[in-house]
Amino acid sequence: MKEEFLAGRNDLCPCGSGLKYKRCCMLHQTAHDLSVAELYLKNYRIKLKTANDIVGIKKAGKLVVDTLRLAEEFVRPGITTNDINNLVHDYTIKNGARPAPLNYRGFPKSVCTSVNEVICHGIPCDRVLVEGDIINVDVTSVLDEYYADANMTFFVGECNADAHKIVSIARESLKRGLSVVKPDNTIGDIGYMIQQYAEGEGASVVREFIGHGIGKSFHEPPDIPHFGRQHSGITLVPGMVFTIEPMVNSGKRFLRVLEDQWTAVTRDSSLSAQFEQTIVVTENGYESLTPYEL
Ligand code: MF3
Ligand code: CO
Ligand code: CO
Repeated sequence: MKEEFLAGRNDLCPCGSGLKYKRCCMLHQTAHDLSVAELYLKNYRIKLKTANDIVGIKKAGKLVVDTLRLAEEFVRPGITTNDINNLVHDYTIKNGARPAPLNYRGFPKSVCTSVNEVICHGIPCDRVLVEGDIINVDVTSVLDEYYADANMTFFVGECNADAHKIVSIARESLKRGLSVVKPDNTIGDIGYMIQQYAEGEGASVVREFIGHGIGKSFHEPPDIPHFGRQHSGITLVPGMVFTIEPMVNSGKRFLRVLEDQWTAVTRDSSLSAQFEQTIVVTENGYESLTPYEL
């Protein structure tokens, strides 16, 4: 590869046109030896996806969203998080897929169920849901070798205004992050949009857990922080597949992980909510591979 590929977006284009790289060969990938796919792999270890890969991830994604809808119907006061685990596990297997969380780095169950002050990675157990709880259900399925990852936060019966507020902020945070996903914008633009909005609403954004590339593995480059600076980080290009999954707290952003080594809770016991989708960057913007209305 030519060293000039390390040119930054605002540097002069190595082709000698006198234009900035981002206004010239960066747009067209002409005059260069390596394809964008080869560059992103070499420089960032990002595997851009083929049209075939997208079809595969989308199939897994449809199952994930169907599973979340099933869980949504099932959630009510009196059930346990283990009941949700069994529902998700059985439905995933019945549809010829595998629940990715099960035995992932020692995770003992098939889905993450995170109630109230639990930020993420809640382990299903015999905890009984009660009226007024909020619960995030995070489903990742592997179908024909392809992973898709999405989550939603649900209300258990009637919930108070604080619960409605944080769930609404989490939903809108994902929406705002998605709104800037298009080629030429950067990963930093996504985090910037989320952080500006959520903090402006008086909520805080978790830093320790971030979105991630996904494809034939659960977590792959790039990292997608839900905070950051405009124009910073890697430039988005078509074929990048990753999750955006902002976790927002009604109190401070700090967390603690319980003895089980998984359950992340807010330090101040404030409520936390999250929504997640898996998306692909397209020529004009993005397409959700786990689409649901936000
Ligand atoms: N689904 C989570 C994510 O959004 C990861 C869960 S890892 C597990 O990245 F082991 F807890 F399942
Ligand atoms: Co994820
Ligand atoms: Co997830």
